[in-house]
Formats: sequence, C-alpha cells, structure tokens
Amino acid sequence: MLTCSFFPLLCILFISGAEALFGYGLLRCQFTSPDDVVYLAQIFYNKVLLGGYNSTEGKYTGYTKKAKEFVDVLNKNPTFLKEEKINLEKCKTHTAFAFEVLSKPVEPSVRLSSVKVAGSKHPNILVCSAYSFYPKQINVTWLRNGKEATSDVTSTEELPDGNWFYQIHSYLELTPTFGEKISCKVEHASFQTPRIYEWGSIPESERNKIAVGASGLLLGLVFMCAGIISYLKNRTGRILVPQSQPAM
Ligand SMILES: *[C@@H]1O[C@H](CO)[C@@H](O)[C@H](O)[C@H]1NC(C)=O
Repeated sequence: MLTCSFFPLLCILFISGAEALFGYGLLRCQFTSPDDVVYLAQIFYNKVLLGGYNSTEGKYTGYTKKAKEFVDVLNKNPTFLKEEKINLEKCKTHTAFAFEVLSKPVEPSVRLSSVKVAGSKHPNILVCSAYSFYPKQINVTWLRNGKEATSDVTSTEELPDGNWFYQIHSYLELTPTFGEKISCKVEHASFQTPRIYEWGSIPESERNKIAVGASGLLLGLVFMCAGIISYLKNRTGRILVPQSQPAM
C-alpha cells in the first residue's frame, strides 16, 4: 500500500505557559490498487487524533466528545462534503504516477567522494552515496582489493527524499595504502547485476568535462600571454619614442 501526502501539511502551534500545544492536519491519498484510492483528512491535537474525513465512508468522524459535536455540523454541510469529494478526485489524478512510475524500480545515481577528518586515526573517509532510487531496499558495500570490507564501515538508513525516492550514504574510514583497489558495490532492484564503482577511476563523461575545461584553460593562458606580450611591446615602444627624439 502506498501512502503519501500531496497536499501541504497544515500546522498550528500554540504556546501556552510552560508547554507548547501542537495541532496539525494531515491530508493523504492512499493507493491500494489502481482503482482503489482513499482520501483521508485527519486532525491531530497534541498527537491525539481528534477526527477526520475518510472518503470510503464519505463523512467526517469525530473521536472526542467535542469533535463529535463538531463533525455533526460538518456532515450536515454540503459545501464541506463537496470539497472533500473534489479532494478525492485530486488524489485520483495521481494514481497513474503511483502505479506506473513506481511499479518500476528507479536506478540510483551513485557518487563517490571523500572527506578529510582531522584528529582521526584514519585521515580519510570515503563516502559512497546513492541518490534518487526506488524502491527503498538497497545494499551498499565496500570492496578492498575485491574483498568485502566489514570493519570501519558505517552507513545511514535509507533516507526518504520526500518525493517517493530515497538516498543512502555509506562511509569507509581508511588509511589508503599504495596500490590498493577500493570500490563501492551497489545492489538494487533496478540493476540486473550488482554495480561496482571504483574509487579513483573517473567516469568517461567526467573525463570529457575535464578535457574541455583543461583546453579552455590552455586557450585562456595563450590569449593572456599574447596580451601580456603585446602590452609589453607597446609600452616599450611608447617609451622608446620620446627617448629617440632628443637623439635625432
Ligand atoms: C477508512 O474507512 C474504511 C471503511 O470504513 C476503513 O476500512 C479504513 O480503515 C478507514 N481508513 C482509515 C485510515 O481510518
């Protein structure tokens, strides 16, 4: 079952005396199957569900005495009920996205980076980050000379991006030894076979970018040198002119 909120979360915070009182509303679309969408609106106050609207029931329900009195009024008001029907229709417009896009796994984009840590026994931490993947299940491991590294490895949870996709970061603390081959292995439902990202090897596209950048820099240097030479020539030329006049 997929649950998500397409609507902004409504929050109200009351500060009264020593404690803060927190009320919030949650509007959700729940997709059970392509033709079963439930729209839910729920109002919480200090974490307690006071009441809400459930599109399956087609009415508001209250869970406290006060809320019950309140929803009785709402349920008699066709304007409110009509508004909730419109919200259910809005939920339905997202069904295709929920079931077509997310029925297929979405490949992570993997990046390797390093961070320096002062005062640690290991001067370097390598970071293997996977971004924007779906579904949540993923395996990120480190290989040192082809063998899986288990020590000095830490990882975050799969963190929700808030847009259906996830990201994860795995850290390897190490003192690099010369010639050691380090890579990050990623296993995900979107891959036929596990993918290995080698540390230190620069992907083709990055290499092209570097080549373009380097030639740009070289060209800039050539023009700068030409500019400096021409400037110096002109300057010495101008100085020579008045100097040569008294000699004439
Ligand atoms: C919405 O109402 C249906 C039907 O009564 C019920 O099965 C479902 O659990 C309700 N959903 C929530 C989140 O209360």
